[in-house]
Amino acid sequence: MTLCAIAPPETMLPREIQVTTAGRSRPLAALPSPLDLDALVPSAGPWEMEIGFGKGRFLLAQAAACPERRFLGIERAGKYFRLAAARAGRRGLGNLLLLEGEALFVLATALPGAFAQAIHIYFPDPWPKARHHRRRLLDAESVDLVLRALTPGGCLFFATDFLPYGERVREVLASHGALSVSEIEVGWPEGPRTNYEAKYVAEGRSIVRLEARTAAGAPGLHPRGAPWVLAATAPDPVGGPREEAR
Ligand SMILES: C[S@@+](CC[C@H](N)C(=O)[O-])C[C@H]1O[C@@H](n2cnc3c(N)ncnc32)[C@H](O)[C@@H]1O
Repeated sequence: MTLCAIAPPETMLPREIQVTTAGRSRPLAALPSPLDLDALVPSAGPWEMEIGFGKGRFLLAQAAACPERRFLGIERAGKYFRLAAARAGRRGLGNLLLLEGEALFVLATALPGAFAQAIHIYFPDPWPKARHHRRRLLDAESVDLVLRALTPGGCLFFATDFLPYGERVREVLASHGALSVSEIEVGWPEGPRTNYEAKYVAEGRSIVRLEARTAAGAPGLHPRGAPWVLAATAPDPVGGPREEAR
C-alpha cells in the first residue's frame, strides 16, 4: 500500500495569525510567546482589549480619544481586520495592537495573563443552535480563558441583542466566584459604542448590557468550566485549586 499526503487547497488552510502595530504587520509565529506587549507597544499606559471588534469603530475611537492608554483588538474575519488595520494606520494610532485570529486560541496561546484593565465584547456571534453553543465566546467553558486576561479589579463589558445569550452570559458571570455583575439598563453613558449597537438602538431592539468587575485578590475559576480551559488558565497541576473549583 502506498500512502501519500494530499495538500489541502489553499482556501482550506488556516490563515497565519497576523499582529499589527503602527501600520506594521508580522506573523504571530515570528514573535515570542506569550507576546511581549510592552515591546510591541512601548508605553506605561494600561491596556484595554476588545474581542470581535468588527470594523473597529469602538476600538479605534477609544485609541484616538485615550492616547495615554493602550488597546489590543482581536478579530478573526480577515476582511474586517484589514479594514480596521488600514484605518488605524491612516490615523497614526501608535497605542493600538491588532491581532487577526480566533480569540480563544489567541488567548490560550499568545497573550499573557492579567494584562488588561478592561475587556470589551460587543455583539459576539450568538450561535443560537444548542449544538453550537460551545463555539460561543462567553460560556461556562470559555469564561475563565477570557477573564484570565483581566487585571485584579478589572472589568468585562458585554452587550448583545440576542436575549437568550445575554441571559446565559449574565448567569455564567453571576455564578463566577470572582465577579460582581451589574446590568446597564439605560445604555452606556456615552451612547452606542459599536456599529451593531448603533444599528440596533436605531431599530429599537432590546439589548442586554453587562458590566462584570473582578474583586481584587478574588480566587476562583468558574465552577462549571471545562477541564481544558481550567488546564489553560490554572497555574497549578492536578490537586490544586482547580480540583476545588469543580
Ligand atoms: C456581530 S459582529 C460585531 C462587531 C462589533 N463588535 C460591533 O458590535 O459592531 C461580531 C464580530 O466578532 C467577530 N468574532 C466572533 N467570534 C470571534 C472569535 N471567536 N474570535 C475573534 N473574532 C470573533 C466576528 O468576526 C465579527 O466581526
